[in-house]
Amino acid sequence: MASSTKDVEAPPTLDAPLLGSAAPRSRLRVAAVSLSVMAFLLVAIAAAVLYYNPGGVASNLMRLRENDYPWTNDMLRWQRTGFHFQPEKNFQADPNAAMFYKGWYHFFYQYNPTGVAWDYTISWGHAVSKDLLHWNYLPMALRPDHWYDRKGVWSGYSTLLPDGRIVVLYTGGTKELVQVQNLAVPVNLSDPLLLEWKKSHVNPILVPPPGIEDHDFRDPFPVWYNESDSRWHVVIGSKDPEHYGIVLIYTTKDFVNFTLLPNILHSTKQPVGMLECVDLFPVATTDSRANQALDMTTMRPGPGLKYVLKASMDDERHDYYALGSFDLDSFTFTPDDETIDVGVGLRYDWGKFYASKTFYDQEKHRRVLWGYVGEVDSKRDDALKGWASLQNIPRTILFDTKTKSNLILWPVEEVESLRTINKNFNSIPLYPGSTYQLDVGEATQLDIVAEFEVDEKAIEATAEADVTYNCSTSGGAANRGVLGPFGLLVLANQELSEQTATYFYVSRGIDGNLRTHFCQDELRSSKAGAITKRVVGSTVPVLHGETWALRILVDHSIVESFAQRGRAVATSRVYPTEAIYSSARVFLFNNATDAIVTAKTVNVWHMNSTYNHVFPGLVAP
Ligand SMILES: *[C@@H]1O[C@H](CO)[C@@H](O)[C@H](O)[C@H]1NC(C)=O
Ligand SMILES: *[C@@H]1O[C@H](CO)[C@@H](O)[C@H](O)[C@H]1NC(C)=O
Ligand SMILES: *[C@@H]1O[C@H](CO)[C@@H](O)[C@H](O)[C@H]1NC(C)=O
Ligand SMILES: *[C@@H]1O[C@H](CO)[C@@H](O)[C@H](O)[C@H]1NC(C)=O
Ligand SMILES: *[C@@H]1O[C@H](CO)[C@@H](O)[C@H](O)[C@H]1NC(C)=O
Ligand SMILES: *[C@@H]1O[C@H](CO)[C@@H](O)[C@H](O)[C@H]1NC(C)=O
Repeated sequence: MASSTKDVEAPPTLDAPLLGSAAPRSRLRVAAVSLSVMAFLLVAIAAAVLYYNPGGVASNLMRLRENDYPWTNDMLRWQRTGFHFQPEKNFQADPNAAMFYKGWYHFFYQYNPTGVAWDYTISWGHAVSKDLLHWNYLPMALRPDHWYDRKGVWSGYSTLLPDGRIVVLYTGGTKELVQVQNLAVPVNLSDPLLLEWKKSHVNPILVPPPGIEDHDFRDPFPVWYNESDSRWHVVIGSKDPEHYGIVLIYTTKDFVNFTLLPNILHSTKQPVGMLECVDLFPVATTDSRANQALDMTTMRPGPGLKYVLKASMDDERHDYYALGSFDLDSFTFTPDDETIDVGVGLRYDWGKFYASKTFYDQEKHRRVLWGYVGEVDSKRDDALKGWASLQNIPRTILFDTKTKSNLILWPVEEVESLRTINKNFNSIPLYPGSTYQLDVGEATQLDIVAEFEVDEKAIEATAEADVTYNCSTSGGAANRGVLGPFGLLVLANQELSEQTATYFYVSRGIDGNLRTHFCQDELRSSKAGAITKRVVGSTVPVLHGETWALRILVDHSIVESFAQRGRAVATSRVYPTEAIYSSARVFLFNNATDAIVTAKTVNVWHMNSTYNHVFPGLVAP
């Protein structure tokens, strides 16, 4: 990244600082734009208030004041998670990848040691774990202390080289906010904790090449190693003057002396803008190998392999991926289908999720994905909490050999070791318009796995239904259709006036084909204002003979949901005011008008906390 906290999903009451991604010469213009944006937002808020509450000036002012929700300390404390990674305080953002080294998983991440928002003190936080879940915080690995990273140690990548060395390449923001690439290495490779890091004396190792803007050059990533000539290929995301996303390629033998290749790895066919946090890796497509991930660095393209190109789209702040082929001779990626290229097609997550990176875990032969999940409440509320942003539960990535059209993302198996008390429910009929409370006690840290069946007769009796349905414009769980919505309500209060709905909505075309939408509805997730609440989701393939399957990880203010065993994922941040502590409940629901839905099996586990803490004997920020 992620050089700024600008976020198109931010609530309108925020003063989203348009920092960082603007070069100095354009800052005045940006300031003017942000002023006019704020003026526009104020007018829009006023208009919205009038629209919903046309009761005169006095009550309008009251409405505005209600946005400053009177949070109590207990409510805010409850929002801190039990088993997600978060530093003890302050702001975190992009995962800067991870590695398994001498018995420890190392995790590096964008961290502001001094505040709850992004600013120029952005640094690299560091933590270690034996299982990707229980973390020990370590001292920060890198902080801005040289002219070439004066305005921040931004994102990059930590790479374990095949010869046992470790390099970190990262983007630094200079005093003038020029984006340059820098090299850092551990001081002592015998230290399993890699506590000390030194920056190369030849930094910066790369400055923006001719034709690339000073602020469009970031997130370096050593992607491939040529064993014949000992040369690394390092890719860096950018955009061209016409606003098309491009990926530059450099080769290097020593991470000091680089050669820019004349070709580029990929150029988008749509003007989708700057590509951040670019990632490229292979997935196995044949059934015999599909359950194992592959190391990109020394891999040669061949039969039974597909490649994934992923980029974080700076303009709209979502992580897109494309499936395609990779040609080593030209060092180019070509999507299988240009209409679903990176930036326009498939997403890792349809909710709140950004700046993700994967790493290859050589210990367990898997590829693991991490992304950061920002806040959607106000900066004021983050300041009250004293922290901002989460990392998702690490997800393994595999190719879907059944659909052959998407990846499968699934929480790492270690998360199942946190499961404690289990309640199991079977064959629960859900009549149209009904809810069913799952009696599981306090429902704030859960792992839920559920399978649903829709009455065949109802499907057959439906000639055509909701062919134009779309999660984001649908109105959510309160919008009833013939064959949906049905699913779960989590972080719900007893009266259901507060709840987050994760559901399926089945539509049927004139040709008789069913199309399933997987949505997460945040609209009633909190009674507090100044929070962005949306309905997120997408369509998800449900193959013949399959049930409708959901898995939901609930952890206080985060809900991570997986449809059809990982074909589609949606993550939400939610801030309930009543559905907290022992008042948090979980329900099944069916709001279809015509179909009986059966919850075939529902397993609910309570999840233990991970009690992360500073590594014994050390001091962490
Ligand atoms: C390097 O780390 C190892 C293992 O922690 C330690 O024994 C050794 O003293 C360290 N070397 C230096 C020079 O600090
Ligand atoms: C790898 O190195 C060999 C030997 O120099 C060279 O022939 C080949 O083109 C290189 N491959 C790539 C993809 O750069
Ligand atoms: C950098 O690499 C180029 C091309 O491989 C080579 O000609 C040059 O001598 C190298 N410079 C240094 C300082 O190593
Ligand atoms: C749903 O609506 C959103 C917002 O208008 C749009 O961006 C998205 O492409 C639509 N999705 C589908 C599947 O039509
Ligand atoms: C079902 O739809 C009705 C009508 O829109 C709505 O009042 C109710 O809240 C919905 N149920 C759920 C669980 O969202
Ligand atoms: C929860 O985890 C802690 C250690 O992290 C462990 O001591 C405790 O036994 C676990 N509780 C349950 C119920 O498994």
